Amino acid sequence: MKAIILQQPGNVDQLKIIEIAEPIIKPDEVLVEVKAISINPIDAKTRAGNGIYQRIKDQSPLILGWDISGIVVESKSNKFKNGDEVFGMLEFPKVGNAYAEYVAAPASQLALKPASISYEEAAASTLAPLTVWQAMTQNAQVQSGQKVLIHAAAGGVGHYAVQIAKYLGAFVTGTSSEVNRDFVLQLGADAHIDYHAYDWEGNRAYFDLVFDTVGPDNIEKSLLAVKEGGTIISIASGISEEFAEKSKSKGINAMFMLVHPSGEDMDVIASLLKNKQVIPHIYKTFPFAEMAAAHQLIESSRTVGKIVICL
Ligand SMILES: NC(=O)c1ccc[n+]([C@@H]2O[C@H](COP(=O)([O-])OP(=O)(O)OC[C@H]3O[C@@H](n4cnc5c(N)ncnc54)[C@H](OP(=O)(O)O)[C@@H]3O)[C@@H](O)[C@H]2O)c1
Repeated sequence: MKAIILQQPGNVDQLKIIEIAEPIIKPDEVLVEVKAISINPIDAKTRAGNGIYQRIKDQSPLILGWDISGIVVESKSNKFKNGDEVFGMLEFPKVGNAYAEYVAAPASQLALKPASISYEEAAASTLAPLTVWQAMTQNAQVQSGQKVLIHAAAGGVGHYAVQIAKYLGAFVTGTSSEVNRDFVLQLGADAHIDYHAYDWEGNRAYFDLVFDTVGPDNIEKSLLAVKEGGTIISIASGISEEFAEKSKSKGINAMFMLVHPSGEDMDVIASLLKNKQVIPHIYKTFPFAEMAAAHQLIESSRTVGKIVICL
């Protein structure tokens, strides 16, 4: 089978297509013929030697990637049989081996793909909405009527965050550049902030939950926006001890969360997709051979929705 290995941490030239044997599945795993893969910023960060590279470098040369959709072609699990269409985020933050024609996947990390969505839409709806679902229902419990601020609401994670927060009954405000205002509002956001022009200091703390997908340069804005008793969930960077203490002294709970694989949570995502309560937006698709271009595009931080590789 064809797979893409990361030869060394570095630029996109380090991604190389090779021929290797298909993986051999273990008990409770399935072999998935991959139909589509989604690309996340963590793919590019890890390729460059950042992200989770330090955690997984001992398995070099690595096969990157975590998000797949495809067809089960062999099963050692009671959960799935040959021919089942599945999708999920595999093994994160360990090695996912997703940049390949066939992937050995723990059945417990997959869900059945709704028949009504494409493989591309399914692959797009893995790590990103899983992060949102876990953040908003497990790290925090978003309640109906709460005011939720989503930074980078047009992004891969953010566009799911708007829809899932709305599904949970929140009053949702999304930030983006002005050019993406209509996109964010069409996702269902109740209000929009152009983060380039907004006066964070001048506006009163208002939000019950701030979902920060942007990182260290943004976290102080999140602190200005959240009200006493509220929560900041950061996914793009850790929360320093100093920042956690500062938040605590203002009565605010600030935390970093890292997504984890979960077939059960993927079942919920599948149901939201099936019922059109969440609709993925695919910005661009690439063929497998153009993985390097997909990495370069995600590194622009200017994409709207998701980037997907088609096999
Ligand atoms: N901890 C976890 O488990 C976890 C899970 C998933 C993702 N993440 C991290 O979360 C971050 C976001 O992921 P993603 O997939 O959503 O990324 P993405 O799709 O690349 O985000 C692109 C969006 O970011 C917006 N943006 C860029 N700079 C911004 C800024 N300064 N302020 C506000 N928005 C800005 C852009 O909006 P405009 O063009 O409208 O400006 C663009 O639409 C990444 O760092 C990723 O690694 C962490």
